[in-house]
Amino acid sequence: MTKHLLKMADLNQEDIIELLNLADQLKYDQKHGIPHRLLEGKTLGMIFQKASTRTRVSFETGMYQLGGLAQFLSSRDLQIGRGEPVQDTARVLSRYLNGIMIRTFEQKEVEDLAGYGHIPIINGLTDYAHPCQILADLMTIREYKGSLEGLNFCYIGDGNNMANSHIVGALTVGMNVSIACPDGYRPHPDVLKFAEKYGDKFKISNNVLEMAANADVLATDVWASMGQESEAKERRKVFAGFQINDDVLAAARSGALVLHCLPAHREEEITTKVFEAHANEIFDEAENRLHAQKAVLVKLMGPKEI
Ligand code: CP
Ligand code: NVA
Repeated sequence: MTKHLLKMADLNQEDIIELLNLADQLKYDQKHGIPHRLLEGKTLGMIFQKASTRTRVSFETGMYQLGGLAQFLSSRDLQIGRGEPVQDTARVLSRYLNGIMIRTFEQKEVEDLAGYGHIPIINGLTDYAHPCQILADLMTIREYKGSLEGLNFCYIGDGNNMANSHIVGALTVGMNVSIACPDGYRPHPDVLKFAEKYGDKFKISNNVLEMAANADVLATDVWASMGQESEAKERRKVFAGFQINDDVLAAARSGALVLHCLPAHREEEITTKVFEAHANEIFDEAENRLHAQKAVLVKLMGPKEI
């Protein structure tokens, strides 16, 4: 296991399975009232340069359940928001905290924080990656399908942070991956290069129904991400049709799971009907953020033997 979690490519298949096993155990403990205060006396700083519901609440609650403390650090209040360099912020915070979760725009900021600081850094979403969400998604898929290897995973929509991280995560655990996205909105070139190594286990096209054929898991995300609000109108035109709806479900395998990291825009990337029919797995997925992240926190900040 690496020292930080900056992107899915930091983890190999064994690391991911180990994290998911620990997440399952922590979920069991929490549901059965079994104390698991593995981070007693530890403090996590949480830097947010973008909004959040799930990430903030699940990290904060997770640290509390593990016996530690989480500090919410809005960039509006930090000196970093007034230009203090990341390299100084990282070195200062390393003296007080045992780990930092950061949600920001550029992946480079997260990498810099890891480079200059001396404590584990966890990416809580950048424009490039959202690894914590992918671990929760893989945990959810395993809960519903029993295993991950050999499943057909299909993502429909923008080639954004979620697409980038889904591709790397799903291929790493042995799934076949197909991506439907409009030309010009493809995933990051580094991710496409990573996927090339997997040969015909990876497909990408602008044909939604072809990509959804025989899918065991369908996933999507918003058409306009945080920071792209001014493009929302244009994106609604470009992405029309890149939607999980009844036709897409009919192309997928029967019993296909539908995942959405949330927040969802009903009647854009997913119809209300499909969303509500699959609300169980979508909200299990949201819950699993808590358990999967607790596993990450324990692995990076907890006792060495775990
Ligand atoms: N899925 C997710 O990261 O949600 P938040 O933006 O609410 O944290
Ligand atoms: N792609 C979305 C994910 C939100 C969890 C965004 O970056 O806004």
